[in-house]
Amino acid sequence: LNYNVTRERRYILEVLFNGLRRLEYRGYDSAGISIDLNSNSPLVFRQEGNIESLVKSVYHDVAATDLNLEESFSVHAGISHTRWATHGEPAPKNSHPQSSGAGNEFLVVHNGIITNYEVLKETLLRHGFTFESETDTEVIPKLAKFIFDNANEEGDQSVTFSQVVLEVIRHLEGAYALTFKSRHYPNELIACKRGSPLLLGVKDLEEEASAGSSFGDAKFPSSNGQPKELFLSSDANALVEHTKKVLVIEDGEVVHIKDGGVSIYKFDQAKNNHGGTLSRPASVQRALSILKMEVEQINKGKYEHYMQKEIHEQPESLTTTMRGRLIRGGSCKAKTVLLGGLKDHLKTIRRSRRIVFVGCGTSYNAALAARSIVEELSGIPVTMEIASDLVDRQGPIYREDTAVFVSQSGETADTLLALEYALENGALCVGITNTVGSAIARHTHCGVHINAGCEIGVASTKAYTSQIVVMAMLALAIGADTLSNQARREAIIDGLLYLPRKVKEVLKLDKEMKDLAKLLIAEQSLLVFGRGYNYATALEGALKVKEVALMHSEGILAGEMKHGPLALVDENLPIVVIATRDSCFSKQQSVIQQLHARKGRLIVMCAEGDKASVSVGGSSRVIEVPHVVDCLQPVINVVPLQLLAYHLTVLRGYNVDQPRNLAKSVTTQ
Ligand code: G6P
Repeated sequence: LNYNVTRERRYILEVLFNGLRRLEYRGYDSAGISIDLNSNSPLVFRQEGNIESLVKSVYHDVAATDLNLEESFSVHAGISHTRWATHGEPAPKNSHPQSSGAGNEFLVVHNGIITNYEVLKETLLRHGFTFESETDTEVIPKLAKFIFDNANEEGDQSVTFSQVVLEVIRHLEGAYALTFKSRHYPNELIACKRGSPLLLGVKDLEEEASAGSSFGDAKFPSSNGQPKELFLSSDANALVEHTKKVLVIEDGEVVHIKDGGVSIYKFDQAKNNHGGTLSRPASVQRALSILKMEVEQINKGKYEHYMQKEIHEQPESLTTTMRGRLIRGGSCKAKTVLLGGLKDHLKTIRRSRRIVFVGCGTSYNAALAARSIVEELSGIPVTMEIASDLVDRQGPIYREDTAVFVSQSGETADTLLALEYALENGALCVGITNTVGSAIARHTHCGVHINAGCEIGVASTKAYTSQIVVMAMLALAIGADTLSNQARREAIIDGLLYLPRKVKEVLKLDKEMKDLAKLLIAEQSLLVFGRGYNYATALEGALKVKEVALMHSEGILAGEMKHGPLALVDENLPIVVIATRDSCFSKQQSVIQQLHARKGRLIVMCAEGDKASVSVGGSSRVIEVPHVVDCLQPVINVVPLQLLAYHLTVLRGYNVDQPRNLAKSVTTQ
């Protein structure tokens, strides 16, 4: 959106398309865009499929309608959206922007879920509205039109855009980040949020010419220093190429952009819940935050896919995760860890009766990988919770608990609901996330950023290893006051210091894993057996194969083998057995024997030099990995499995970075 500068339609379209490309990893079923004609109703384009299908169809339509790409605007408000379907199949009619009907009086893009949409739809149907989509979102623009028409009928011709939107959101239940555009309010946009993330990017064009900024640390918005372009996005990725200055919009805030100026209001549901009268809520001012990310971080660089890039950058991401946090100790000082975000809460954590790890998907697996070391070094029992299940069960959480919320994005709806629940129950809540300013970072009492850098491949890889390392450091920090385990702690710290180098070594297995993928390309199923520290590795390896290579795969606790999984074993089904060196090694050797006795088709992962100890009858394939201290071995062991999943996917011809039906951050329940 521009002010005091002129920009051509082509530029406006490209800004919106590029924004969508940057967000595509969050949803890629269908996409849509709305831009202005000079004075007529806004144009809307919607297309099933990925962003490039939308781009093609827009340029095709633009050519067909003689719409002038060179036409310039000094003020323009455009919106766009890429969708991960919740209600209704991926189809143009279910794509956003959703419209109030003919003439596009109100248009809305939405991230989230409106839970009371059925009730609202019934009311609107009774008032003569007709619906074209199966989405929950469509009620929003229709409700806006209903409110606008009513205000006008009652003689209030001066109802403002923000008044209409405030009245709309008063009726909405569920989670949302919304952007509204309207024919009645040209050159205006309204955005608001509850539960789903929303950022406002502020670009002063003087930034382009000089490094300085006219805003400084001053509160934003202010009357001096009018921004020239404003960007709204659910993710910093879409903003960073335009500006690093952002305002993280809080729940209940409404952003009103008008002719290039911005006002922000705090919408207090209680105050406004008096039906009818539209009051103006309090205005909000805050200092802008500066994004600490570079555009290069979100490019693929020399790699073909983001997942490949992210697997290979693990030596660097792990180094960044540990930077400044490992204190090597002097001649008489012990080695130790320093986690700034926790230091004021360590005493409380040490006094906890229980530590509860909460997460979803890969983040849950990372917590599981760290569980034993946290138990060992802290002496506190650790229980595991899949976020949705904790909420479904309303499982007991007490004031004496420390609940640790693990989430790459920091925005996963299930994890956030679990956090809300734990806060209500009085637990100390710790966040472990990769996203500064995310909801989990903001709403927990304390926490640690994993600093793995931006992760774009939908299948999490480098965030997983960094999460494990952060939780190992968490264990070291909690246990730091216990003398009896000092030698063990120092050995782990040494292991951490060597870890990036060891990950570099294990990445050399790339070619070997590609060859293995060639062998497995046509398989229907793959089992991964692990135990102890590497039960999580088995789950995570299988999850990677399942989610990107679209091959059935199951991670199995080897200790449970005899209680069911053994029935699946024959000479055809490929089975990966993780048998690296730790206290479970001899048990895994006997698992290998038992599988071999049933003619299992084995691929054994072992530590370098252990090939002879794990080979049986010469029939099994062996992957040798570098040996590290037991509790960090999951970081090494997962890498060949990530590579296997990656190569299997490419060889099977599937989309590595955007697997079917999945999305990177699941901000809906
Ligand atoms: C989605 C992603 C997974 C991720 C999970 C949890 O399912 O596809 O890769 O592990 O969400 O996400 P979080 O951002 O909370 O770690």
